[in-house]
Amino acid sequence: ENDTIAIAIDGPAAAGKSTVSKIVANKLSFIYIDTGAMYRALTLKALRRQVSLEDEEMTSQLLSETSIELEQDHDHQHVFVDGEDVTDAIRSENVTNNVSSIAKQASVRQEMVERQQELAQKRGVVMDGRDIGTHVIPDAEVKIFLRASVEERAKRRYQENIQKGFSVDFERLKQDIEQRDTIDSKRDASPLIKAEDAISLDTTDLSINDVAAAILQEAGKVLADNGAAQ
Ligand code: CDP
Ligand code: CDP
Repeated sequence: ENDTIAIAIDGPAAAGKSTVSKIVANKLSFIYIDTGAMYRALTLKALRRQVSLEDEEMTSQLLSETSIELEQDHDHQHVFVDGEDVTDAIRSENVTNNVSSIAKQASVRQEMVERQQELAQKRGVVMDGRDIGTHVIPDAEVKIFLRASVEERAKRRYQENIQKGFSVDFERLKQDIEQRDTIDSKRDASPLIKAEDAISLDTTDLSINDVAAAILQEAGKVLADNGAAQ
């Protein structure tokens, strides 16, 4: 069928994954799944329960008893943990700076990937994260790896904070992003890496619409080929 493709979008923090994924999903009437939100949701619950984030047995046990739901209405996505709307809470600095510690654990990843694969069965789907093209949907028809310089990515996050009325230190924001990228890239369990067959897009000097258009063009090619094959 024409609408049964999967689009995998990976890349480091603030490369534009979620913004662009939402636009692409809306245009194609696909569902959008933000896998980072799932790791953030577990991190929030662990922090609240004061579970040691380094204790893999505890964190994976916690995950096994945690329901995480993603719901979308138009371009807003809501995240629920055990029925509670935590959409804003999972974006806190505390969660952001701790999520990579939990996300590097193999048993946590295994369970998350299983849940994500189940969600991805409903195609068309746009899924973003760090390991979508390599592990979650290795057979995705379109794989994109978004890049941007760390300076540019820190600027983007800085702007977001300013717009929300938060004052943040630019250098610290940049350091936090670099540190998270390092943990995500160096971990043993499905690290942040471009899938061999993914298209790499450097977005440093591209607008959001440029990036969305490039991905839609790739998706269009695949959809046209599928149509022709029928
Ligand atoms: O939006 P941002 O780039 O800040 O991060 P996110 O996509 O919400 O992901 C938060 C964290 O979750 C990442 O830094 C990774 O540690 C982890 N993550 C992951 O390990 N695998 C994924 N598929 C998605 C996120
Ligand atoms: O999901 P990820 O962490 O990769 O990034 P994001 O949250 O989608 O994007 C981070 C910020 O960069 C957002 O405020 C976007 O509007 C902005 N952005 C941009 O200015 N130019 C782009 N080409 C992509 C994103």
